[in-house]
Amino acid sequence: MAKKNTVPKKPTKAPAKKVAAPKPVKKPAAKLAVVKRPKERVLITGAAGFLGSHLCDRFLKEGYHVIGMDNLITGRLKNIEHLFKREDFEFFHHDVSTFVHVPGDLKFILHFASPASPIDYLKIPIQTLKVSSLGTHNLLGLAKAKGARILVASTSEVYGDPKVHPQNEEYWGHVNTVGPRGVYDEAKRFQEAITMAYHTYHGVETRMVRIFNTYGPRMRLNDGRVLPAFIGQALRGEDLTIFGKGNQTRSFCYVDDLIEGIYRLLLSDYAGPVNIGNPAEITIKQFAEEIVKLTGTKQKLVYKPLPQDDPMQRQPDITLAKKLLKWQPKVSRAEGLKITYAYFKSLSAKELHEKDHNSFEGYVRK
Ligand SMILES: NC(=O)c1ccc[n+]([C@@H]2O[C@H](COP(=O)([O-])OP(=O)(O)OC[C@H]3O[C@@H](n4cnc5c(N)ncnc54)[C@H](O)[C@@H]3O)[C@@H](O)[C@H]2O)c1
Repeated sequence: MAKKNTVPKKPTKAPAKKVAAPKPVKKPAAKLAVVKRPKERVLITGAAGFLGSHLCDRFLKEGYHVIGMDNLITGRLKNIEHLFKREDFEFFHHDVSTFVHVPGDLKFILHFASPASPIDYLKIPIQTLKVSSLGTHNLLGLAKAKGARILVASTSEVYGDPKVHPQNEEYWGHVNTVGPRGVYDEAKRFQEAITMAYHTYHGVETRMVRIFNTYGPRMRLNDGRVLPAFIGQALRGEDLTIFGKGNQTRSFCYVDDLIEGIYRLLLSDYAGPVNIGNPAEITIKQFAEEIVKLTGTKQKLVYKPLPQDDPMQRQPDITLAKKLLKWQPKVSRAEGLKITYAYFKSLSAKELHEKDHNSFEGYVRK
């Protein structure tokens, strides 16, 4: 019998084994690694001085690692001693008029080292010339090598005894190169020129602030500037000395306002000079009267001859800063003076009675 043509059976598949779905393995929760980004580093020269110390505080508050540098010629470690315990602050005791070496990266350099009061620069004229010329050159070189942005502290003194009022950045100034103030004014004018040259020739990112009279805690009581001089005299029970008739004008900016303006300028993209100051102008006589009222002193105002080349008018035109930086001063003179007076009152009797710097006479060139 013929075999039935049987259709070969399809090979039967082995029944698929049920494979249990893999159980999710419980791994210990991965810890998120906290990667600490190194802080950006800022070099501040003149760190132990009045403005430099306030800049250190501000940049630390903004989260930077601050390297302060100072040779302590007019500054005091007391101004920055509260920072020494911090890991994000370093201090180099160094004269920036000699070669400046800073290991590691730098994001910003702020060059604030320079004697700043007329008595200081009469006393140390050569160092004053060197720090804004050789010192600025050294720091521009450092900025170039590190690819850092540098801001230099210029001054309203570049306008000299001005023939334009108020002074705007277009005004070229009226300076006596060989007068007693020439050592400061001309050094600062050179500083601006070399800073601009490094910008145009080497492409270094540069900023320049022209600072007008600034005041606040950590000024030296005996540095010869009018505000601490008046308050010091009032606190010691001495008469308040006015140089000249007292009709020369000044405009005083509170330090917090200035620091805010500098911070904004540094972060801006403007390489030309910018005035930062408070346009509220007052005569020196009116100012002395304000100090008498503030301190309650019973002393009188006495008059001495005006020092050579003392500027008769000082008032910043801050139109550019307002437009460029959206900045203008906020602290009134009454408010700022109250804080500053409280600071001076808290000083020791020793500091109050330090005689060094008390008068111009000892430092006038023979
Ligand atoms: N305070 C103001 O009203 C005012 C106005 C215009 C310009 N400025 C400028 O601001 C800057 C700071 O002024 P300030 O009022 O804080 O004066 P300041 O005297 O209190 O501070 C200057 C600091 O620079 C240091 N210094 C000077 N020469 C140095 C050098 N060769 N190397 C290292 N450190 C040196 C001093 O020891 C001091 O600590 C200066 O460049 C000044 O010209 C200040």
